Amino acid sequence: MSNAKPILVSAIKPTGDLHIGNYFGAMRQQVALTKEGKYRPFIFVADYHALNSMQDAEEMRRRTREVVMAYLAVGLDPKEVVLFKQSDVPAHTELCWIFDSITTMPYLMRAHAYKDAAAKNKEIVVGTFNYPMLMAADILLYDAAVVPVGQDQKQHVEYARDTAEKFNRVFKTDILKLPEPYIMPEVAIVPGIDGRKMSKSYGNVIPLFALRDELVKCVMSIVTDSSGERPENVYAIHKLVRSESELEKMYEEHRGNYKMLKELLIEDLDRSLAPLRAKYEELQNDPHIVEEVLAGGKSEARAVSEAKMEQVRRAIGVAG
Ligand code: ADP
Ligand code: TRP
Repeated sequence: MSNAKPILVSAIKPTGDLHIGNYFGAMRQQVALTKEGKYRPFIFVADYHALNSMQDAEEMRRRTREVVMAYLAVGLDPKEVVLFKQSDVPAHTELCWIFDSITTMPYLMRAHAYKDAAAKNKEIVVGTFNYPMLMAADILLYDAAVVPVGQDQKQHVEYARDTAEKFNRVFKTDILKLPEPYIMPEVAIVPGIDGRKMSKSYGNVIPLFALRDELVKCVMSIVTDSSGERPENVYAIHKLVRSESELEKMYEEHRGNYKMLKELLIEDLDRSLAPLRAKYEELQNDPHIVEEVLAGGKSEARAVSEAKMEQVRRAIGVAG
């Protein structure tokens, strides 16, 4: 792995069962970017970011494992990517504190995520308020050049840029590199089985690693509306796994026969997802793989981030 390549940093919170919306909307593109070979990728499980909303030790352990296995199953290669757990690298929280010390409250109050949370709940935790500073540390520790995120995370990358600029200005240095967001091309929002956006919070998902029986159950319960030309919710999911030119023919041939179209969707989904599911099952049967991958990632991420922290500590004057 060449050190001269621009760095890519991305992360995933271990907060929910992964569904096909996550895969087609985000994971598939993240993996493809790491395979282009243009970047040196650091990808981590943002467990400390999840602690705001998930406060159950067993669940934290289980979901963290599941996220690592899911990324391996969909093609992330630990030989090409530094894959680690945020909590394994203490520099993230250390740098976060340093950023807290140069950041004002009014500036953080402008964050969309904070405003949304505050509108819903008056007693939000400090970690939610401070989320952008931990995320800035995540990004700036590795000299990230690109940060692939969905549109909803763009503001957080801007916070990281502003924070790097401010740090460099306050401490008269240039050690923090300004990152660019890389907004992943918007895959049309994947609808859930009720037609709304597929989301774990709506309980309308098709799980990414669903067994065939479960797949059948989910697809058969996709809500269809007989007023249109074709069952749009079925079609929108079908489009993810088969070309539109083939679909046009198929939906014309079986016009009005929703049961048949759903059966065809089940076949196509099953065929595309089966290899991922097989890989996931294989990983589940390997009791050591997650620990091994995370141990490798931890030592590499610690080495890189510690070198940056030495520069940071000198810049702020806590080290000589
Ligand atoms: P959820 O809405 O289920 O809580 P997250 O917010 O955890 O999902 O999303 C993780 C990633 O998956 C995000 O980058 C998001 O853009 C993508 N994603 C989630 N749901 C969908 C969907 N229905 N269609 C397309 N992309 C999605
Ligand atoms: N906040 C991101 C999300 O909710 C996850 C995340 C944490 C992240 N740290 C990051 C993404 C650093 C990119 C880079 O999806």
